This record gives sequence, structure tokens and C-alpha cells, in this order.
Amino acid sequence: MSKHIGILTAGGDSPGLNAAIRGIGKAALRKDMQVTGFLDGFRGLTENRSIRLDKKALSGILTVGGTILGTSRMKPHKMLMGGRTRDMTDTIVENYNRHHLDCLICLGGGGTMKNAYRLHQKGLNVLSLPKTIDNDVWATDRTFGFDTAIGIATEAIDRLHSTAHSHHRIIVVEVMGHNTGWLALGAGIAGGADVILIPEIAYDVQKVADAILRRVRRGSHFSIVAISEGAMNKQLSPRFHAAEQRKHAAREAMDKEAKAAASAELDIIEQERKGHTLRVSNQLEELTGLESRVTILGHVQRGGTPSAADRLLASKLGTAAAELVEQGTYGVLVADRGDSYEAVPLEQAVGRRKVVPLDHPWIATARRIGTCLGDK
Ligand code: F6P
Repeated sequence: MSKHIGILTAGGDSPGLNAAIRGIGKAALRKDMQVTGFLDGFRGLTENRSIRLDKKALSGILTVGGTILGTSRMKPHKMLMGGRTRDMTDTIVENYNRHHLDCLICLGGGGTMKNAYRLHQKGLNVLSLPKTIDNDVWATDRTFGFDTAIGIATEAIDRLHSTAHSHHRIIVVEVMGHNTGWLALGAGIAGGADVILIPEIAYDVQKVADAILRRVRRGSHFSIVAISEGAMNKQLSPRFHAAEQRKHAAREAMDKEAKAAASAELDIIEQERKGHTLRVSNQLEELTGLESRVTILGHVQRGGTPSAADRLLASKLGTAAAELVEQGTYGVLVADRGDSYEAVPLEQAVGRRKVVPLDHPWIATARRIGTCLGDK
């Protein structure tokens, strides 16, 4: 009997999602499989809202941004239903069986992968595909969405240069990336930012001001500071890393109380971090005597048509996922590996975040150019 695949997209949307859906669908239809898309992430699977992904539905979506299936950040075990948070895992299992699915393919980032793994532990056949503009999914070379976002952020930095230069100003540009600096570092180098601040390297605002003043002494009266939304100063960074370690240890020890305490501390830190871009801009004005402005790139980095590289990656991983279903390989992340792909068991990939290693070539590149990373 032919196989039946379910697909959902969860978490923040990302350019390339439709290319991946198309890749899975087209490859599956050629093998006489049936494909159903569930709407709005795990919520649609819970509420049994779906569409048939036939040839017509898959046509013309390769270049379209967002996701034709809609998305949400709802988790199966913590779903907001009628104003209450409920564990809807059993309903999801029922709906999976009602549709006689052979596999559920979840397109998302680290959180989605964790949710897919939970369903796998409940006996469902699942696959996970790595999408996010943050590029922070463990065990994959790249995530789709990242290349498009880096292009958008780079173009924005390019454009900020001429206005910063004309007005002899500092412009502090905030780049997305959650708790990792891939996007700010990549776009910062490609766009020629003078300072790049990322979560992996705690910054000292005085050091940033010194770097800007050195530029002034050399005759450059403007500076572009690319700052990750997750960047932290020397005071906040050690607290964040300590709380993250406590949370990880509590999860391993299955200590719910300690995990809740560490999560609460992380929430407090998140609150303290809010508005940091404007604070850095104000501090730099004070310390350098130059005028400073803030640009927050925000969701523009996630919108619109995917780059060619993202279409290619999403198509590669999508078609690979259909191949894995045909083989009956489940419970894996379909990871990008060089020109090919690798099926990485979910238990090896969940609960880990791929941060920028301090010895990464991009960091060395930035330092060799003379870009200030906020620590020296
Ligand atoms: O994970 C993608 C991402 O765009 C992050 O870079 C950002 O921190 C977050 O999503 C924003 O989430 P939301 O769209 O829910 O505000």
C-alpha cells in the first residue's frame, strides 16, 4: 500500500519553507505517496485542520516566502486551548492514526525538533527538517532561511553605511538570531560593520567606544555597529551562561524544580536584555561624543522570497526526507552535510544549540580585518 506523509511547519517562519514542502511533496507524489499538510503547526494537527498537498497545491510555491501551511509556536504538551494550557499529545497521536499517517515531517528549528522527538517517543514515525534564519540547529551544517536572512541583513548594513558616513554618525543595527550570533557575524562581516557584538562574546561598551574613537583619530567619523538581539555585556553574560548550565543539568537530572528555577532566572535575564540596542547606542553617544542612531531590522529578515541557496538547500533536504520515508527511516533530523545530507538520530540533536565556536573562521576573519568584537 502507498505511504501517507503528514507535513507541518512550526516556530517562526523562514524563507525556504515552501521550497521544502514542494520538495517533499513532489518527490513523494512521484513514488505514489499521499501528502497531507497540517495547518498552523502542531495546533492544526491537534485540531485536525489539514489540506491535501496534491500536484496543484505544490505548484508555484518554490519562490514564495513564508509557509503555505501557516505556523505557530504551540507545543503539543503545552497548548493553549480555550484560555488554558493543556497537554494535547494524546489528541495528536489520535489524529495521526485517524489519517493513517506513515510519517509526520516537522519543519522547524530546535524547539520543533524537540517536539517532534517527544512525539517519536510516543511511538509516532517522525522526521525533522532544520529551518531557521538563526542557523542554530545542532548537527546540521546549515539551516534553510539563514542564507536569505544574511542577504537581507547585509544589504541593510550596506545601505546604512552611506547615511552613517554622510552624517558622521554611529549607527547601531540590531540583527536577529535569538541566542546565537551567526546572523550578526555573517552579515556584519559581509556588510563591513566596524563593530560586531554577538552573544558568544561578552562585550564591554567602553572597548567598543575606544574602537570607534580610534577610527575617528584615523579620520573615519562614522561607525556601523552590528549587534545581535541576544548580545550581552560582561555583567549579564556570565549570569546567562550559569543559568543555562543549571537548566541543562536539571534537565539531565530530571529535577523539575531546579529546571523551573533556572528558567525563571533566564526569563529575568531576557527582560533585562530587552532594549539593550538603544542602551548601547546611548552609551556610545556619551562615551564618544558622536551622534548615534538605532536601526532594528526585525522581521524584515524573515520575509519575502528565498535566496537561490535556500531554495536549493530546502529542496535537497525536502526530497531527501521523502527518500527516507520511502526507506522507512524515521526518528531523525535530515541534516545538511556538505553537498549531501545525513540522517542524524533525533536523540543526538535535541536540546543542543549550535552557537558560534570561538575558534570559528568567521571570528578569526573579523579580527584579522580589525573589526571590534567588543572584548578587546
Ligand atoms: O527563530 C527565528 C526568530 O526570528 C529569532 O531570530 C527571533 O528571536 C524570533 O524568531 C522572533 O520570534 P517572533 O517572530 O515570535 O517574535
